This record gives sequence, structure tokens and C-alpha cells, in this order.
Amino acid sequence: MLTAIRYEPGTLYLLDQRVLPAEERWLALATASEVAEAIRCMVVRGAPAIAIAAGYGLALAARRGSDLDEAARTLVAARPTAVNLRWGVDRVRQARDIEAAARDLHDDDLRVNLALGEHGATLLDGGVLTICNTGALATGGHGTALGMVRSAIAHGRDIHLYACETRPWFQGARLTAWECAQDRIRCTLVADGAAASVLASGRARAVVVGCDRVARNGDTANKLGTLNLAVIARHFGVPLYVAMPWSSYDPATATGRDIIVEERDPAELGGYQHGPVDAWNPAFDVTPAELVSAWVTETGVVRVLGEG
Ligand code: MRU
Repeated sequence: MLTAIRYEPGTLYLLDQRVLPAEERWLALATASEVAEAIRCMVVRGAPAIAIAAGYGLALAARRGSDLDEAARTLVAARPTAVNLRWGVDRVRQARDIEAAARDLHDDDLRVNLALGEHGATLLDGGVLTICNTGALATGGHGTALGMVRSAIAHGRDIHLYACETRPWFQGARLTAWECAQDRIRCTLVADGAAASVLASGRARAVVVGCDRVARNGDTANKLGTLNLAVIARHFGVPLYVAMPWSSYDPATATGRDIIVEERDPAELGGYQHGPVDAWNPAFDVTPAELVSAWVTETGVVRVLGEG
């Protein structure tokens, strides 16, 4: 199975997602602050994957006899939006055996994704539109939204994935397309601006996305562009499914307005260097709960009342 995270006592190996698919480069990390920096600069990304990497970051700190609370603070501060990061760090920090807890977090994530995929598989058939990368690269394996696609295919569903390229980091064009090629999942890459046309033309009959934090009321933070998909999905009467491991649900956050949306360096925006203009580069957006047809979890499918 495709994996982007490997741990050996004292060393964390991460597949550098900044250079995929051109290069399959593994980085070897030895300290929690190196792991925090790898999370910040997107060597590893995707909410479950950054939690797993951070768990191993704590394991590295424990081996070196470093201050675990300080390591935990540094890791949690690496990216603000995905609640999985804090959840994973807290879970490992509280354990008596830090290294075993980090490994458990990793193993559990794969189990969660396989269960989530089973619950979601029956919802998908035919064309499916997605954004970002929510597959094995973004998790401990299998994936969440892409895991639903994998499970649906395993159940014999005739799935054709439409992957938004996902600017400015191109997680769709570089990572989802790469994973689909590896697993022979039928995938057509589209420019982000083509999403409405994919639905208008009937090419896709469902939208499936991941999430970084779901507030108590169901408002859902995910990769920038998800809100666009939610609005057009509602317009065209197409369901929007959010693949949500319970580790992404944050009852402590009341609504989407309370979610901190990461703003990244404007220099990441292509073209920014071509003129002296201002630029705004939020990495995520928040989709109101009423635009979500269902949240697919490892324990079952949660629907909005009245959605049937
Ligand atoms: O900035 P990224 O690449 O970390 O954003 C990732 C996403 O938005 C994913 O949809 C989300 O983390 C779920 S990954 C299973």
C-alpha cells in the first residue's frame, strides 16, 4: 500500500510532497522541530498525515530526552486549521509510552479510513468530483474522500474521478493524479474553474471532499475551493459528501466563524511575482453545514435533518 510516512526508532522518513510526482524523494528527520518545519512547509500535508507526523515528532523528542511540552507546542503551532494536529499531539503526549502511542495513531488512522471508505462506498457511482488530495499521501493509508472512491471501486462501482488541480499547491494535479495513476483509478484532471462545467455537463453526479476541521454545528473547513464546489453542487442538485474521520470533528469550536483559516505566503500564488499587486492566500475555506449533504465517518453516515 502507498505510504508517505515511515518511522524507525530515532528517525522519521517523509516522502517529500513538494516535489512529487517529478521526484520521489524521502527526507530523514531526527527532531520535533524538524518535523514541525516539514509540516509548515508542506513536505507532509493533509490533516490526518500531519497528525501522524507530529505524533512521531513527539516520539523523536522523547528518544532525545527533549522537553515534551515544548515539542508538543511547536508541533501544534505548525499549521492552525486542521484540528487533527492538536488531537494527535494530545493523544500521544498523554501516553506513557510515547513511541508506541505514535505508532498506534498511525495504525488506527488506516483502520479508520478503511471503515470510513466502507460506509461511503455505497454513496458513489459514476462520475465523482473532488478537490485537493485526500488519499494515502494525506493519511496513514487508503485516504478519506479518495478512500471512499477506492472502496467504491473495490465494491465494483464504475467510478470516474474528476480531480480539481487545486491551486496554488496543485495537490490535485500533482498528488491525486499520481495516486490515481499508481492505483489505476480512472481520473480526469480539470482546472479549478472547470468544476461548474463538470457538474453542468453531468460528468459528475456527486462531489466528495475531505476536511480539516468540522465545527460543532457542521460548518466544514477544507481546502480552498471546497466552498465553490459546495455552492455549485447545490445549484446543480448534486450531493456534497464530506469524508470526516471523527478526529476532524471539533465540538469545542461552535461554528465555522470560529475556525482559524491558515493564510500562507502570497508568494505561493503563481503570477504574484509578475506585478506589484497585493495578494491574499487563504489555504482553506469554510462551507456552511447547510450545503453539506452528509458527513461520512468511520462509524457511519451523518446527514443533515431533512436531507433524506
Ligand atoms: O493544505 P493541505 O494540502 O494540507 O490541505 C489538505 C486538505 O484540505 C484535505 O482535504 C484535508 O486535510 C483532508 S486530507 C484526508
